[in-house]
Amino acid sequence: MNTIVVGTQWGDEGKGKVIDILSEKADFIVRYQGGNNAGHTVVVDGKEYIFHLIPSGILHKGKVCCIGNGVVVDPQVLLQEIKGLEKAGIRIDGRLKISSLAHVILPYHKILDQLRETKRAHKIGTTGRGIGPSYADKTIRCGIRMADLLNRRVLREKLKDNLREKNEIFKKVYAHPGFDFSRIYEEYLDYGRALSRYISNCALLLNRAVALKKDILFEGAQGTFLDIDFGTYPFVTSSSATAGGACIGTGVSPVLMDKVIGVAKAYTTRVGEGPFPTEFLPPFAEMMRDRGNEFGATTGRPRRCGWFDSVMARYAVLINGIKELAIMKMDVLDGLKKIEICVAYKYKGKKFREFPDDWEVLTRAKPVYKSVPGWEKAPGRSQGFARLHPNAKSYLRRLEDLLGAKISMVSVGSSRAETIII
Ligand code: GDP
Ligand code: IMO
Ligand code: MG
Repeated sequence: MNTIVVGTQWGDEGKGKVIDILSEKADFIVRYQGGNNAGHTVVVDGKEYIFHLIPSGILHKGKVCCIGNGVVVDPQVLLQEIKGLEKAGIRIDGRLKISSLAHVILPYHKILDQLRETKRAHKIGTTGRGIGPSYADKTIRCGIRMADLLNRRVLREKLKDNLREKNEIFKKVYAHPGFDFSRIYEEYLDYGRALSRYISNCALLLNRAVALKKDILFEGAQGTFLDIDFGTYPFVTSSSATAGGACIGTGVSPVLMDKVIGVAKAYTTRVGEGPFPTEFLPPFAEMMRDRGNEFGATTGRPRRCGWFDSVMARYAVLINGIKELAIMKMDVLDGLKKIEICVAYKYKGKKFREFPDDWEVLTRAKPVYKSVPGWEKAPGRSQGFARLHPNAKSYLRRLEDLLGAKISMVSVGSSRAETIII
């Protein structure tokens, strides 16, 4: 079975926890896009693990975890992540594979990401990790790939060529001194040596696994509305976070995919800039942020919070081909008297039931809400759907109706145990 797990909102839906749970029954877990802009949190026995590049499936013994060709890799961050896991007693050897085709994040990508943000009139609010510039180099065909770190001659030539152009731009456009070839060259050769045992042809490995009827989980980072095409452009990330990205980012054909699971929070959050029709107003916004502990796992920035937006989520179901949903953080809504669900947008007297492409509509429209009654925490609810508060159950049923997909998992807390499988 080949299953894609994808975020249906603006990221941080709880994909890490879902992947961790589904990993138990998988053989391979593969990240297909994004980089260390992602922060996926898993809580096991009270211990919190935050993953930026390695799939959270690594916590399960014997599972093979891949970083696909669609990912951009900051080798320094990856090595730190490996070290952190080894320190926590998790064996990596033989279980971590990095695609030789994955692009590398270089120091100039990170600096350029940050410089661009400071110069922009309308900031995107990027994570500053060099994601956009690295994908830009991939697309304009001057990127450096993991395999290049293993070949001194190729790396020298590519890096020299890049720096010749980039240093001019850094000096002339950004008044930045530019970068020294030897330092980057030696540093990245070292990374290549340290990572060489993990680097291989992942497309081959995964297709062989498919032939052997192994179970593969494809882990999306970010979410549908941060997708480079379908997101709230330009306030998006630079990769294909939607389900289609799983094929491009791993080399496993679309005809081999069996299922797409969409992950959604029971409300909505967003980090960084950009439109957010259902965003809460203060002081409710702060209260909900504190209840949900909504602070970025990568940058620590406070996340913006709002009501569940079924217009967005339904579009995500469509774009990704989602049949199953995991609804996360239901517990954060405990104790509210009334809960709103956005069912349409309204702008200049017109109602929009579909997610609008028109920027003016998206940024100025007012949400149309349906109110539903809230609930108190029900005892023993982690033990099954039946034990949820009746109002919580009807909230979930309402989401199913609005989205046209079945809920197969409900999360009522950050730990593995606080999960209802339906
Ligand atoms: P991801 O990027 O989609 O993997 O999500 P993040 O890890 O960035 O953010 C989700 C946060 O919510 C993490 O801190 C999780 O530990 C936490 N979390 C996940 N599920 C639940 C839940 O059901 N309830 C609560 N309270 N926290 C949850
Ligand atoms: P996970 O996988 C939430 C946001 C940034 C910014 C925009 C572009 O944990 O869900 P980038 O650095 O990618 O160029 O920033 O995208 N962003 C995320 N928001 N969760 C993420 O990942 C994100 N990755 C990027 O905040 O608005
Ligand atoms: Mg996250």
